[in-house]
Amino acid sequence: MNRIPVVIDVDTGTDDAICMTAAILNQDKLDIKAFTAVCGNVSVEKTSQNTLDIVDYLGTSYPVAAGASKPLVQNITFAISHGSTGLGDVQLPTSSRDFLPDPACEVIYRCAKEENGNLEVLATGPLTNVALAIRNHPDICSLIRRITIMGGSLIGGNMTPVSEFNIYNDPEAAKIVFESGIELVMVGLDVTLKPCLPTEVVEEMNKISSPHADLVRRIFSFMQRRSAEFGGDAPNLHDVIALASIVAPKLFTMKDYYTTIELNGALTRGMTVADFRNVSEKAPNVHAAVDIDIDGFWKWFIAVMRSSDTEK
Ligand code: BDR
Ligand code: CA
Repeated sequence: MNRIPVVIDVDTGTDDAICMTAAILNQDKLDIKAFTAVCGNVSVEKTSQNTLDIVDYLGTSYPVAAGASKPLVQNITFAISHGSTGLGDVQLPTSSRDFLPDPACEVIYRCAKEENGNLEVLATGPLTNVALAIRNHPDICSLIRRITIMGGSLIGGNMTPVSEFNIYNDPEAAKIVFESGIELVMVGLDVTLKPCLPTEVVEEMNKISSPHADLVRRIFSFMQRRSAEFGGDAPNLHDVIALASIVAPKLFTMKDYYTTIELNGALTRGMTVADFRNVSEKAPNVHAAVDIDIDGFWKWFIAVMRSSDTEK
């Protein structure tokens, strides 16, 4: 299999950090061109610094670009569940490297041009950077092969009854992306809420010796404490599930729908509205993940993490 050239756009964030770690461990399948950061879980100053620090901590030197500091139209609502820095209580050494000089949207465009139609984008935060790339450079629409989004949901949100965090935080950007004509994969709450972190996976992580397992272990520990405080179920890992849809697509059941974003509804702003019965007669623009092989996902995750073990 040829490696997939990809830009990974993140709002790092605890689960983004796990997604980044798993992506970096999938170098046989992914040719990561850059990480780009957007505001979302926390400010863009923090998401971009977290991203750079993680890249370095994991012993790599991928380029990192900082991106949008606010959504296209509205104000940002930061997450309450990733701690004040975005990485929970995990502290990493501060990278001595610089960010790329260009903003995230220009880096996405440059990579798209360089890859000649083969670039994929994995977006695990609000879609502001991707929308800005499209708005500034409409020709990008024929240059990107596919965008995989952790975001949205077919049934029920987590910020409002119908709106998921990443779409809620920039519905105008999401609408630009959903209506861009670029092939889209939507990995939303319909699947990302299904795998809840089992204790066996946490125990498995304790057996692996690597900076990758160390980082994931520390984030898991924060997530578990946070879930207990919130009185919720075991933690969900949202963003890494979108990554899995790229490198382990067989784990997913997909359905194609015409889907767009509601901007105006008093109750429904930020909803991903899917035309389940094709009453609009519009061609589907979204491959939506509707189910996931939960056991298969955890096996995949553990195998990825084990591949980092320096004492194997
Ligand atoms: C999404 O919201 C963020 O808090 C997570 O990082 C994830 O991307 C889940 O709704
Ligand atoms: Ca995220």
